[in-house]
Amino acid sequence: MTAAASLNNGHPAAGIARARVQALLAREREHYANAHPRSRAMASRSAEHMMFGVPLHWMCDWGTPFALHVERARGAELLDVDGHTLVDFCLGDTGAMFGHSPPAVAQALQAQAVDGLTTMLAGENAAVVAAMLAERFGLPQWQFAMTATDANRFVLRWLRAATGRPVLLVFNGCYHGTVDDVFVDLVDGRPVHRASLLGQVHDLTATTRVVEFNDLAALEAALAPGDVACVLAEPVMTNIGMVLPDPGYWEQAAASIRRHGALLAMDETHTLTSGPGGYARLHGIDADAVVVGKALGGGMPCAAYGFSAELSERVQAAKRAAPPGHSGIGTTLTANLLAMAAMRATLDTFLRPEVFAPLHGRAARLAQGLEAAIRRHQLPWCVTQVGARTEFQFRALPPRNGSEAAAAMDAELEHALHLYFINRGVLITPFHNMMLVCPDTTDAHVDRLLGVFEAAIVELTGG
Ligand SMILES: Cc1ncc(COP(=O)(O)O)c(C=O)c1O
Repeated sequence: MTAAASLNNGHPAAGIARARVQALLAREREHYANAHPRSRAMASRSAEHMMFGVPLHWMCDWGTPFALHVERARGAELLDVDGHTLVDFCLGDTGAMFGHSPPAVAQALQAQAVDGLTTMLAGENAAVVAAMLAERFGLPQWQFAMTATDANRFVLRWLRAATGRPVLLVFNGCYHGTVDDVFVDLVDGRPVHRASLLGQVHDLTATTRVVEFNDLAALEAALAPGDVACVLAEPVMTNIGMVLPDPGYWEQAAASIRRHGALLAMDETHTLTSGPGGYARLHGIDADAVVVGKALGGGMPCAAYGFSAELSERVQAAKRAAPPGHSGIGTTLTANLLAMAAMRATLDTFLRPEVFAPLHGRAARLAQGLEAAIRRHQLPWCVTQVGARTEFQFRALPPRNGSEAAAAMDAELEHALHLYFINRGVLITPFHNMMLVCPDTTDAHVDRLLGVFEAAIVELTGG
């Protein structure tokens, strides 16, 4: 997840008169404010003792006049505190990818809850979970974290230690959680700190190199000095809108990375929607390390990272060579008993091909419906689908890199559409236009989204 840029970033509103976007946004804001008195009261109360009026500051970046408050969430639906039911295509930005409170996970949590929550010691579930991860992702050795952010941070540390190299290479516009090292953008071809990053005093550009996705020549040039420890990447960029790899891109990129003695770490936190072993496994991309987070615990905070046999040897050698003491890796509650129970239930119940097949079918139905509406209204927008994940973007052709994807973003148009959807009982991911389906999402849910999408376009285009 990444917060959108400024509200009206100056672009004309992709095929829509700007004045219409602004009028719709104003009307929908008023509608929202009138329809959510209890959320408004809770937001006021929250503001008394919470900075920004929310538990985490970016919860106020949804584009609603005040934060929507949730009564409960089950399966593919949310009930807000004002009694509105919303079909949820955000699904906690993938954390609830297998539905809210899936019964198998809820039961495992209930059972574990009375037998110890955290001990700093492993139980039987740890070995079972690691074996299932090895089988699903095809990498033999695993460690755990509480969040995908931490998992990425730990992978980076291990890989720098294992290679003895300092540099991280990432793709422009990427997001891998709040790992400081990755917040370097390409601006006019030069690496600079992401402008929104707070409180960072170190020069990240000294040890982070950034290139555009799908640019093999730039990747090769960035690897050439021989100081890159690892390339950290999503196999498909998902956080700046979706950006698909060109055919054959990863095969050549992986070969180039290997040729220069660097390592490839695939962050599958979002692309897990492609299948029970993630996108890289499905598409035969040969990664040295894989990170999985968010949905891995069915909504409970937990994450894991896996290494190839060769990398795990190097990592263990680096640890053995270091003096005893703090490694900079791990947190006290990591791999706690409750998290392990959640991961075991999630892996066992959901990380199976037969669970993903219907999700992909439903996402394809959604993508086709969106495309048909866009064509009917002759809008210069496009739709991309990766597994259970679908995105519409305000440009005629899918972007090939982060810069193209960023240029197509229009926060004002997004806010108007998202608010229009919320006011009609549909929630999609803030900050861009991502829609995720879960096992509880029905065809009727998809039709509801398609209906409000069509209605919004009709209003915005005037028919
Ligand atoms: C690809 C990717 N990796 C890592 C993360 C970080 O996940 P978390 O916020 O759960 O630490 C995110 C969050 O959006 C993500 O999209």
